[in-house]
Amino acid sequence: MVDASKQRPVAVLSLNPAVDITYEIPRLIADQKVHASNSRYDPGGNGVNVGRALKRLGVQACTFCAVAGEIGRFLRHQLDTQLDQACYLEVEGETRINGTIIESLTEAQFEVSGVGPAVSTLQWTHLLEQFVTHCGEGLGVITGSLQRSLPDNLYADAVRRVQSAGGRAIVDCHDEQLRHAIEARPFLIKPNRFELETLVGHPLKDLNAIVREARRLQEQGVSRVCVSLGADGALLVTPSEILKGEAPAVPVVSTVGAGDSMVAGMVAMLVRGASDEEVLREGIACSVATVMQPGTELFERRMVERLRGEVGVTRLLL
Ligand SMILES: Nc1ncnc2c1ncn2[C@@H]1O[C@H](COP(=O)(O)OP(=O)(O)OP(=O)(O)O)[C@@H](O)[C@H]1O
Ligand SMILES: [Mg+2]
Repeated sequence: MVDASKQRPVAVLSLNPAVDITYEIPRLIADQKVHASNSRYDPGGNGVNVGRALKRLGVQACTFCAVAGEIGRFLRHQLDTQLDQACYLEVEGETRINGTIIESLTEAQFEVSGVGPAVSTLQWTHLLEQFVTHCGEGLGVITGSLQRSLPDNLYADAVRRVQSAGGRAIVDCHDEQLRHAIEARPFLIKPNRFELETLVGHPLKDLNAIVREARRLQEQGVSRVCVSLGADGALLVTPSEILKGEAPAVPVVSTVGAGDSMVAGMVAMLVRGASDEEVLREGIACSVATVMQPGTELFERRMVERLRGEVGVTRLLL
């Protein structure tokens, strides 16, 4: 547990949270009703997941969520016990519902993301204001996809606001939001391999190509560039070194929440002032512990503690 009196503040932005429904079925069959063998409801959306994961790691954090309607009420009820601290902005409409179907016969997983409520400029500006105030000189986590009605530079704006107040912005998003956010020079970004390829506009055939592009982003002013590589672990490019962390081989049950767990693990180490190597190791340990869990369930802290020692980190030559 981090000593609360010493910990820098952590604020997590969650403009488009969700209720996740997971159904386990034998197999999806067109035009036939299939009965689930198991179903569950969990809070979802990237920001909310990062907030939940931070609580599991004993990090104090406030998650700033836009919620709407009855689904929003249900989400708030679920989050009561799962977030350390929360700040809600009520908007018109309904919070989205995301669906995951797990086929037990094929082990295939299908995911559908719902449409979130409309958030006006005035509303998100208000939430952003609170987020930046809480963050202060701490860490501001800016993550997740946004409603299409919101401007492409919203996250870039959030990064600038956090950093001009003396904080550090951690960004996990994709496409245009990511492109603009990078221009605002956040402290850390965590694209996955596909998100990096989309950003640079071409496939990256091997680790060398990924390292080259990550370094280019680092040189553009992003202090830490972490590229997650699924079962192949992750890369962390810093101002002085390139670190490659390996993911321990584990039974993979569901990869939902792996990226969010990785972000939370890294944030937990950053607030402790840990080394880049420890930051990367914790990110990998948390994400790997999450892929061992069913559906949208996140890691267990005990498992993170066990896996931490199994994450090999090597320095690549510049
Ligand atoms: N199949 C796997 N086996 C072991 N570890 C994995 C696997 N998939 C993901 N991980 C762990 O989770 C981390 C993040 O995974 P990934 O690169 O897929 O990120 P992501 O695409 O952002 O995830 P998400 O879908 O949750 O957003 C990886 O760096 C790795 O540590
Ligand atoms: Mg991701």
